[in-house]
Amino acid sequence: MFQRVALVTGASRGIGRAIAHTLCKANFAIIVASPEIENNEKVAGEICACGGECMTLDFNVTSLESVKAGVASVMEKFRRIDVLVNNAGITRDALAMRMKPADWNLVLQVNLTGAFLVSQAVIPHMIRERWGRIINIASVVGEMGNPGQANYVASKAGLIGLTKCLALELASRSVTVNAIAPGFIETDMTAVLTDEQKQKMLEHIALKRLGKPEDIAAAVKFLASDDASYITGHVLKVNGGMYM
Ligand code: NAI
Repeated sequence: MFQRVALVTGASRGIGRAIAHTLCKANFAIIVASPEIENNEKVAGEICACGGECMTLDFNVTSLESVKAGVASVMEKFRRIDVLVNNAGITRDALAMRMKPADWNLVLQVNLTGAFLVSQAVIPHMIRERWGRIINIASVVGEMGNPGQANYVASKAGLIGLTKCLALELASRSVTVNAIAPGFIETDMTAVLTDEQKQKMLEHIALKRLGKPEDIAAAVKFLASDDASYITGHVLKVNGGMYM
């Protein structure tokens, strides 16, 4: 029997999928939430095969309707949401000079407004339980900047600001809010980079390897645990020493 319930956005692949697996092994029931229905089912199948409990949600973080309906159906099934991992994220890279306003808006909508909307829908349930964990997956570039990613960087810097604000607003109810700032992690998002680009990045990574989705999932597991109950408003760097 599961002990706590975790809603993971963007859990259909990459870092979100690894978070779903890791939390499942730590005895959480998992909600695999993304717009990729087939992949959601695949991840849910993997979790069930390990004996874990889960449900899938066709979930678009930019749609208030989708968010409200999704959270309502989780509440109907599990009666509570203890952990929210705002992991859904996209990139639409271009130099600021050439960036299309539509790409600016879309990235901000998914990465920042999406995290806000899902948090807002989940917070009342956490407050009622007087226990909760919101974990926002930001990025190293949200702290250090990166040419060609003005929209993405602004969204992740904004997510760090949102993290600190929610941490202050929810602390009195024992709901902690933290961010993780991953460095360069091997997923579909980074598969588009050339070997040359990857090699260049490696030069700046002290541990001389790219990160794995499981490296991020382990940090999520810690922040979701009772052991992390005195940590809030923190930005945890998981970047192999790429930025300190
Ligand atoms: P990915 O591209 O492999 O997966 C992205 C996930 O977000 C997918 O499940 C996708 O369905 C979901 N998603 C996209 N739009 C959505 C929407 N409107 N509503 C709900 N879900 C949506 O990406 P990856 O690499 O696994 O990244 C996960 C998170 O980690 C993102 O927030 C990303 O910005 C962040 N991150 C990734 C790094 C990396 O090197 N891969 C580095 C730093 C941060």
